[in-house]
Amino acid sequence: MIHISSHSLTGEPLFHLRAGDASYVFCVFHGYLLHLYCGPAVGEDDLTALLVKVGHDSVVPRPADTPEGWFSLDIAPQEFPVYGTGDYRPSALMVRRADGSAATSLRYVSHEVLPGKPVLDHQPATFAAPDEADTLAVTLRDPGSGFVVRLYYTAMRALPVIIRRAAAENPSDNPVTVERIASASLDFATWMEPAELLHLWGTWGRERTIERTPLAHGTVSVSSRRGASSHHHNPFAALVAQSTTETAGPAIGLSLVYAGNFEIAADTDPFGSIRFQAGIESTDFAWRLDPGETFVTPEAVLAISGEGLGKMSRTFHRLWREHLCRGEWAERERPVLVNNWEATYFKFDSEKLLAIAKDAAACGIEMLVMDDGWFGTRNDDRSSLGDWFVNEEKLPGGLAPLVERINALGLKFGIWFEPEMISPVSKLFDAHPDWALGTVGRDRSVARSQYVLDMTRPDVRDYLFDTISGVLSSANIEYVKWDFNRNLTEAASATLPPERQGEILHRYVLGLYDLLDRITAAFPHLLLEGCSSGGGRFDPAMLYYAPQYWTSDDTDAMERLDIQLGTTMVYPCSSMSCHVSASPNHQTRRVTSFETRGHVAMGGAFGYELDLTTLTDEEKALIRHQVADYHRFYALINRGDFYRLILPGDTVNGKTGRCAAWMTVSEDRSEALVTFVVIRASIHPVYFLRLAGLDPDARYQEESTGAVYGGSTLMNAGINLTAAHKGGWTDGSSVVMHFMRV
Ligand code: GLA
Repeated sequence: MIHISSHSLTGEPLFHLRAGDASYVFCVFHGYLLHLYCGPAVGEDDLTALLVKVGHDSVVPRPADTPEGWFSLDIAPQEFPVYGTGDYRPSALMVRRADGSAATSLRYVSHEVLPGKPVLDHQPATFAAPDEADTLAVTLRDPGSGFVVRLYYTAMRALPVIIRRAAAENPSDNPVTVERIASASLDFATWMEPAELLHLWGTWGRERTIERTPLAHGTVSVSSRRGASSHHHNPFAALVAQSTTETAGPAIGLSLVYAGNFEIAADTDPFGSIRFQAGIESTDFAWRLDPGETFVTPEAVLAISGEGLGKMSRTFHRLWREHLCRGEWAERERPVLVNNWEATYFKFDSEKLLAIAKDAAACGIEMLVMDDGWFGTRNDDRSSLGDWFVNEEKLPGGLAPLVERINALGLKFGIWFEPEMISPVSKLFDAHPDWALGTVGRDRSVARSQYVLDMTRPDVRDYLFDTISGVLSSANIEYVKWDFNRNLTEAASATLPPERQGEILHRYVLGLYDLLDRITAAFPHLLLEGCSSGGGRFDPAMLYYAPQYWTSDDTDAMERLDIQLGTTMVYPCSSMSCHVSASPNHQTRRVTSFETRGHVAMGGAFGYELDLTTLTDEEKALIRHQVADYHRFYALINRGDFYRLILPGDTVNGKTGRCAAWMTVSEDRSEALVTFVVIRASIHPVYFLRLAGLDPDARYQEESTGAVYGGSTLMNAGINLTAAHKGGWTDGSSVVMHFMRV
């Protein structure tokens, strides 16, 4: 809900946005938009009393037209600070005009309350019906140039979520260049305790590792300049107190719905005010706005928790599941699949795939996914990307006969593409060398022997749409794994004029969205899985198109504990694609039991990634059991409330990195599923585990032992797991416990 009043200082508007149990408050002060509060709900008080009226240094300029001697933009908490007029902290906007100048001042013009959440453009965005959200649009204008910025704030009614976006418009008669524009910026002027930035770092095979770093005076930030959101940092960070835990303390999560270069930063000034900002990374960004044109930023999402990280995560999970993921597969039970990548790599043919499919059918697996290697002359990773034509030496007669035989076994069929790439050794590159991103007179860098297509070009996108549609229409294909295996370099386009080359990295992302929009509209029943050398572009923008994402190329169950639990900081279990793979694991050579590999993979969209034809009867029986469990617990795991109980990096009973545990609880709290994994055992290990999220007054029965416990007992005293593993605890052993209210 949006409450608007006049405040006591100048009588200008004060906006109080109520989102779930959170408040977001800001006001207009002499035309400047000042931030007052973001956190657990507060009353409808006049929060201008929170404005800091310290005297400013004599070196700090102040606006000439504000009578208050204490007021300076360098100290004032702002909503959308701009460059060049006295705020020396990181700007939300820098715009260069035709005369070369960049000083800008944004002043309030008007505001408007809009029902629900308006659709602004063709970028991925959360959605909400008129009775689920309210939106406030505030228009600001630079008196000197007429440049207009409209800020959009959506307050979700049932969730503590504020969604922000900015639209910059050039009403002048001359072009201007936007050199920096944030999606959201806000200043926490009253944050008094030691603060930290919690973020997710990584690299290939080690995505989304949780890290907390103390804020310092100056800027602490995470970003990507790789052309994609990347393995290395996720477009998310949370501002937390040093004392914040899973269950207590402030956690303000900021996530950017964007698949490209981003920056999320926390800047601390000498007065302890923290500027928290998210937007497109500005190193190689310069967007020319011709007269009358508007630039709309990606949206930024704030998830506000006063009760620790767990609540912030559950807020994100619900928002992404219910207000971002689209299409029939967003909430639908996903088929258990087997993917042939780690089973065969490039060495397969129809007969091999059919052999895997036969065993899959016998085990209850529901879909076979044919990974890389089915097209062109691709027998290794050195050729053929772009030549999306079936290799009939591997698949005689094309896809249709293969898919028919797989369907006849009762299995669905899925296929792998890497649409945005082009191999220098390909028919496509021979025909269209200028379709690859590149700078004239400069060699293209290679990664995995491939170049990146110029997705800014409509002809490139048309080619991709036509060839991919042709393949998808040629047989009953029900799933696509959309891969993206390298970062961008030499990003220049043969078709854009010099003054627009600074737009390429953003235009690339918009081109990707356009192609995804067209494919998902043309094939509405398709289940799309995102992938980028594992989880290299696992972000909300991709989840808008693909409700599940290949979490990591590291399929080792112990490594997956870090990766998957890190991913749950922002993303729901339903979005994490998790497979049981071979042991010893292909990435780490670690040996882990089939049972534990299943327990860990069950933490997300479940499947297998190994050669089923080499398994023992005992292992196949285990698969039947795991598949049955997956169906039985689907709703609980994918729609329940998620709680991280022990992170692999936690110290438990004096030892660090020894175990991990998590659980999901059904919304009505009648059922819970708890997973506990011992990473490394010791002599005489002692394990207790306190559960979370249960009804303290209810009684619950654990299925395998029949033991009955009170909810409050399970949450406060905990359960004794010391003897919970039948064979005794060893490295990589695990248990799953199912609790039902009695
Ligand atoms: C990437 C993906 C893998 C697999 C290979 C195929 O690395 O992450 O799952 O699809 O490409 O080349």
